[in-house]
Amino acid sequence: MGLASNREIKDDGLIPTGTFKARGLAMAVSKAKELGLKKLAMPTAGNAGAALAAYAAKAGIEAYVIMPEDAPLTCKLECYIFGARVYLVRGLISDAGRIVSEGKRKFGWFDVSTMKEPYRVEGKKTMGLEIAEQFNWEVPDVILYPTGGGTGIIGMRKAFNELKELGWIDEKMPRMISIQSEGCAPIVKAFKGGKKESEFWKDAKTIAAGIRVPKAFADFLILRVLYESGGGSVAVSDKEILEASKEFAREGVFACPEGAATLAGLKQLLEEGNIDKDEKILLYNTGSGIKYTKVYSKTSNWSCHLLPPLMT
Ligand SMILES: Cc1ncc(COP(=O)(O)O)c(C=O)c1O
Repeated sequence: MGLASNREIKDDGLIPTGTFKARGLAMAVSKAKELGLKKLAMPTAGNAGAALAAYAAKAGIEAYVIMPEDAPLTCKLECYIFGARVYLVRGLISDAGRIVSEGKRKFGWFDVSTMKEPYRVEGKKTMGLEIAEQFNWEVPDVILYPTGGGTGIIGMRKAFNELKELGWIDEKMPRMISIQSEGCAPIVKAFKGGKKESEFWKDAKTIAAGIRVPKAFADFLILRVLYESGGGSVAVSDKEILEASKEFAREGVFACPEGAATLAGLKQLLEEGNIDKDEKILLYNTGSGIKYTKVYSKTSNWSCHLLPPLMT
């Protein structure tokens, strides 16, 4: 990519269910099974629902997944194939969240929403633990992460804090940077205003479904991570995300739009001088582009060549 010499990508498009969401849900569903829960429910932008459905299938637990009707088709299909009950709402993840709250009372669902149970974030700590190990215990200077509900960034920071306490890594920890979309940037706005909490972002819109979160439940924790780590937060446009996804592709990585957003964010931060090109930089690709065939087939000018029938 020629932007920075020391730039690495961590690619969670390669893990089970094709996104980093598997990390948290593997842990949450395992604990739910251990504790004897029978019905798990969550609002989701799509990917977390698919991960819940997969692990719930294996655990023999019922999964109820509520997502926006325009969530990625692959995620809806995954949920269905894994045997979850899938409900679609005409709205955003925040509207889906209200339905889950109602279902808790009416149907006895257990709510596994982002940051509303304690174990997903513990599973997400594996992101930080792996980074530390893969960087040979000399963690990157800066990590760029596409932020929606925030479990990833909170989990990574928790892992680094614990590793520091154990003496496995140095005092110097990565600056954590939240990347959001211009069409939904509540954390960016709050960070730039020096606020402790974000405001609800009206009319949220972006092709990066996972970061279309108008108000994160744990926004105060995300912001705390940004302030305490000396990090920051920037917003990028959908056009920049699509351009960045082509640059990832040139390195053999079919990134999800959320992951591609980190590269668009890096360009901005280098231009502004908030990241130095010689720093050790990590871009977190949170999922596979394969989950977003509709977005990519609509937005890229792609074609295949049809050959005449082969002669026998
Ligand atoms: C692909 C992808 N990237 C990033 C995010 C945002 O994750 P977090 O809740 O950790 O901020 C999501 C959430 O749905 C997602 O699906």
